[in-house]
Amino acid sequence: MLSLKCAERVFVAVADYGNSEFISDKRKFLDKIMTVLSNKDAYVKANAVIKSMGNFHSQSSHFCQKSQSLSTSLTKAVDDKIIFEEPEDKRIRLEVHQERQEGSEKDASGKSIKESFERIFTFRMSIKCSGKLRKKLDLKRLSRDIGWRVEQASGWAVQLRQPDLEVCVHISDDHVTVGVPLTRHPLSRRNYIQESGLRAPIAWIMCTLAEIKFGDVILDPMCGKATILLEGASSWQDAFYIGNDNATDQINVAAENASSNSEKINVALADGLNMPYRDCCVDVIVCDAPFNQKYLTSLTPYVFFGKFLQEIHRVLRSDGCCVMLVSQQLVSVILTLVQDSESEFAETKDMSSKDTHPQEKLNQDNMVSPEQKRLNVPVAQRHSSSQERKSSEDVCETCTKDLKSQSELNVSDKVLEHTFTTQSVYPQRNKLFALSSQHDVK
Ligand SMILES: C[S@@+](CC[C@H](N)C(=O)[O-])C[C@H]1O[C@@H](n2cnc3c(N)ncnc32)[C@H](O)[C@@H]1O
Repeated sequence: MLSLKCAERVFVAVADYGNSEFISDKRKFLDKIMTVLSNKDAYVKANAVIKSMGNFHSQSSHFCQKSQSLSTSLTKAVDDKIIFEEPEDKRIRLEVHQERQEGSEKDASGKSIKESFERIFTFRMSIKCSGKLRKKLDLKRLSRDIGWRVEQASGWAVQLRQPDLEVCVHISDDHVTVGVPLTRHPLSRRNYIQESGLRAPIAWIMCTLAEIKFGDVILDPMCGKATILLEGASSWQDAFYIGNDNATDQINVAAENASSNSEKINVALADGLNMPYRDCCVDVIVCDAPFNQKYLTSLTPYVFFGKFLQEIHRVLRSDGCCVMLVSQQLVSVILTLVQDSESEFAETKDMSSKDTHPQEKLNQDNMVSPEQKRLNVPVAQRHSSSQERKSSEDVCETCTKDLKSQSELNVSDKVLEHTFTTQSVYPQRNKLFALSSQHDVK
């Protein structure tokens, strides 16, 4: 479980229930949550899981070395009384009750700490509240009350600084979840990402959806800090990763991230709406598209994504795959653009199948749909016919297939040569990737 790359945190669930029927009545809500949290059975289960995790050592090394699993730490805590680092998590942590007496070697029942394993768990509350209840609840008071219930039901002791456990309560309009995280730091922390942009589990999920294969060229044309590329390169190692962004500060961080974490990634400062890549040279595009006006400059989302989709279409192979993360609001814009483009393509195909005058054919190839005319979306860069696209792709196929069949260490140079249109925009060759010669070549 602790090696899950798609998870933010792993919790032992103590309680999880729908909240919608209580939301309007604060009294009812508080009664309900206190009843649920007083259920001793839930803590017996949690104790059992936490104890069994004490014997479980994560096989994975993907998350930060600093992020020792709680399982390991718990075992050590019993033996060595290790003092934990303060978590850096920014969520509200509210103190409850007094701290456990320092140096106390006996628990309430007079047993030594080693004899009573349950009692060794010290905890503090961490409450997160979103939605309508946020303004209605006094979180400090609620935290104190809940903390008292948890202490009674679980047998754990409250400790504010460096506790063994955090009991996390998340209250939203339709759900209340109570859980004990099994790791001190989120699983989403990666030791190969110095400064992250997009959350790493999301980046990993996007790469998984793209079904990256051996020798694929992966492009993130608005890569920001290169989180997606770093995540991809860590899990799908026999592929080539290229990224560009038009913001210097972002691409500088991306270069820094890539240099210290991977030798397979190349990044360049370039516009995603006018990419410096050849036609049909990329197998996979994975992109966390800009979602707010800050990035869209003077263009409307419709025009921005119209241009962007055209560029994606141009550089992607016909059997390529694009996974794009967009905000909910942008989904309809993108779907409309895709539909427009499909109907335009069908129209062009239909017309080109008829016997047409050469001049008429030329007009059709440069055809602009009424919607595009209105939006002033250029179509010039597009492959004007599927035939043209195919022949351009054939040339590219031949060269990159050759590349894929080579197991030389400098194959990355050639990928760059075949991907970028001009040498002047090649990324610095200080962190070029290499195909491992140990791998069988397909
Ligand atoms: C949502 S952020 C991507 C964050 C990135 N996934 C990360 O992990 O850091 C969108 C990025 O698109 C970039 N961007 C916006 N317009 C662009 C354009 N025309 N060409 C290239 N990049 C662009 C922004 O600079 C920003 O870094």
